[in-house]
Amino acid sequence: MLTHALIGDAGKTIELGWKGGARSRFHAMWLRDNALDDKTRSAGNGQRLITILDIPAETRIGAASIKDGDLEITFAPDQKTVSFPAAWLTANAYDRDASRKAGWTGDAIRRWTGATMQNSVPRAGYAAAAHDSDVLREWLSAVRAYGFAVMDGLPAESGALCKVVDLFGYIRETNYGRWFDVRAEVNPSNLAYTNLGLQAHTDNPYRDPVPTLQILACVENTVDGGESSVVDGFAVAAALQAENPEGFRLLSSYPARFEYAGSSGVRLQAKRPMIELGPDGELICIRFNNRSLAPTVDVPFAEMDRYYAAYRRFAELIEDPSFEVTFKLEAGQSFIVDNTRVMHARKAFSGSGKRWLQGCYADKDGLLSTLAAIEHQFKEAAE
Ligand code: FE2
Repeated sequence: MLTHALIGDAGKTIELGWKGGARSRFHAMWLRDNALDDKTRSAGNGQRLITILDIPAETRIGAASIKDGDLEITFAPDQKTVSFPAAWLTANAYDRDASRKAGWTGDAIRRWTGATMQNSVPRAGYAAAAHDSDVLREWLSAVRAYGFAVMDGLPAESGALCKVVDLFGYIRETNYGRWFDVRAEVNPSNLAYTNLGLQAHTDNPYRDPVPTLQILACVENTVDGGESSVVDGFAVAAALQAENPEGFRLLSSYPARFEYAGSSGVRLQAKRPMIELGPDGELICIRFNNRSLAPTVDVPFAEMDRYYAAYRRFAELIEDPSFEVTFKLEAGQSFIVDNTRVMHARKAFSGSGKRWLQGCYADKDGLLSTLAAIEHQFKEAAE
């Protein structure tokens, strides 16, 4: 509930007060651009009908009042009157204190370690997730919060992993196909197709944009070893930043180079940092893959020593068992990782028996969209 509205700066800004003491300032131009009336926004699809150039540069707040708890503003010079719900203003307030520390993450992200996660791995059965939107919502929400989740109860057959993606979006095809097999091969085009252990990594950092989700499903697994493990790259990055802020700065402010040319007709290259921050310092992506790291040529000579020391320390922390969560995939089980955040690894396995996994990629924006749509339905049903 709004309690006061004080026009300031000759109509260029307004200060609003809420019951309980909260205050927030807004600009006239911002309010006009974000007006909710049906001449500014389509009532049907919510899209904006005007451009910035349709708004006079000299736009001011001519008058403001509180009506039934909401804000009503008349803009000058065009004498347009628009109402802003108090709850909408609260949800969209931007008048915050000083900028956030580099490496921050949004409220939906929950960082984890082995200690906090090993005994509470998010998990759902395929049949339940397919038929009960509450189960699906919980599972997708876990992917958003923790960057990984297990799904079991799939048919132990080739292509079953596509069913997981069908629950929330679409497969992203690559040169590896719609999906790919991960099993020991005699002349592998990729070290994943051997029985060697694989250091924790994110997949395909040589693509731009990088695949944002990976699903790995088990069709058959009768070998000794071959467990899967996951590591929260955001938690490791925070640990590096805490003990070595300079190392964090180096890995986040200089690009690394990644490349893959392991099969004919493919020469993928990308130039992106190992720790990527958004323009406002938000931690948005980890890229870490020893197999596809190309020569680093974008770090100044004077900083290369310290860059490599930071890379080494980042790798040591990633290998630290305290960050690791381990599980063995059985036939019909799968897991999904947010490939911009959570690294996955494989333990070595012996030659006896068979280990047949399949992997595919999908897009996180689609998963988050499906989750938001389900959450919106739940909210409407509750109202
Ligand atoms: Fe991988």
